[in-house]
Amino acid sequence: MIKDTLLKLLAVHGATGHEEKIAAVIADLLRPYADSVETDVLGNLIVRKHGAGKRVMFAAHMDHIGFIATDADEHGFVRLYNVGGIDVSVSVGQRVVFENGVEGVIGAEEDIEGAPKMQNLYADIGASTREEALARVAIGDVAVYAPAVSQLGEWRLASPAMDDRAGCAVLAEAFMQMAQANNEIVAVFTVQEEVGLRGARTAAYAVDPDFAIALDVTLTGDVPEAKPKMAVKLGAGAAIKVMDRSVICAPAVRDRLVSLAKAQNIPYQMEVLTAGGTDSGAIHQTRGGVPSGVVSIPCRYVHSAAETIDLRDMEAAVRLLVAYAGEAL
Ligand code: CO
Ligand code: ZN
Repeated sequence: MIKDTLLKLLAVHGATGHEEKIAAVIADLLRPYADSVETDVLGNLIVRKHGAGKRVMFAAHMDHIGFIATDADEHGFVRLYNVGGIDVSVSVGQRVVFENGVEGVIGAEEDIEGAPKMQNLYADIGASTREEALARVAIGDVAVYAPAVSQLGEWRLASPAMDDRAGCAVLAEAFMQMAQANNEIVAVFTVQEEVGLRGARTAAYAVDPDFAIALDVTLTGDVPEAKPKMAVKLGAGAAIKVMDRSVICAPAVRDRLVSLAKAQNIPYQMEVLTAGGTDSGAIHQTRGGVPSGVVSIPCRYVHSAAETIDLRDMEAAVRLLVAYAGEAL
């Protein structure tokens, strides 16, 4: 079940640049369904299912945004910098956990002009001196929002790390169902997406795919006075991307996804995202170019500690991937 897979992946620590643990969990999950499982130099997890047809690369990023310890002050507060797009306005008061299990709360200097910026934040880990703090958290250690999943109504879940463990769960679940695929399927669980699509770039070069599809969350335009004027809604189906800041999706891939969704009655919606990008941004520029598309999972409050998805959209995305994998391309 997609929900079980998602909950399993959400529980694993894995800040950008520290994806070993989540890679191991996904590898264990998919090994029984795979012809090969490998990890490359940067840490991308590459899982293959052989086939005689085209080579299709699917990509979902394992990393999620976090904080890195830069120093501790004389009173034991750990100073921080962001790894990836932390939204300072929603991080104050949040619980975080470092990779070694040390827990903390994000605070902000109070006597400042205007809204706090990254340099005003700190993690309160309960230490009283610099020595005590640095004995528990070393400079360079990374923290993420502490795992916590809330169920909102029947279908929706809110949690940190939905970006992009939701995409990883969809890809893992789809891969398990791609049993009779004619194409050569290469599922890549990428590293370091949140700092510039770094893992996808080297993985795509090595895999050398004929076609590629990335799985990631996307914003929605369905909350009160939503700022991005976009058509995507939570619960309205898998989002087939037309364009974002990193990629203009290949019409051949996009149109194939649309026709498969129509033919198989898979709920879908079209997505134009005016902020942000995803792994296809790097993949499509690899070698002589790779026709690339994106299947997105609509998500509210992206890059907060309560990223909210609808499980029905994830189920639709799984069906769409399985359908694409089975097509003669
Ligand atoms: Co992100
Ligand atoms: Zn993402």
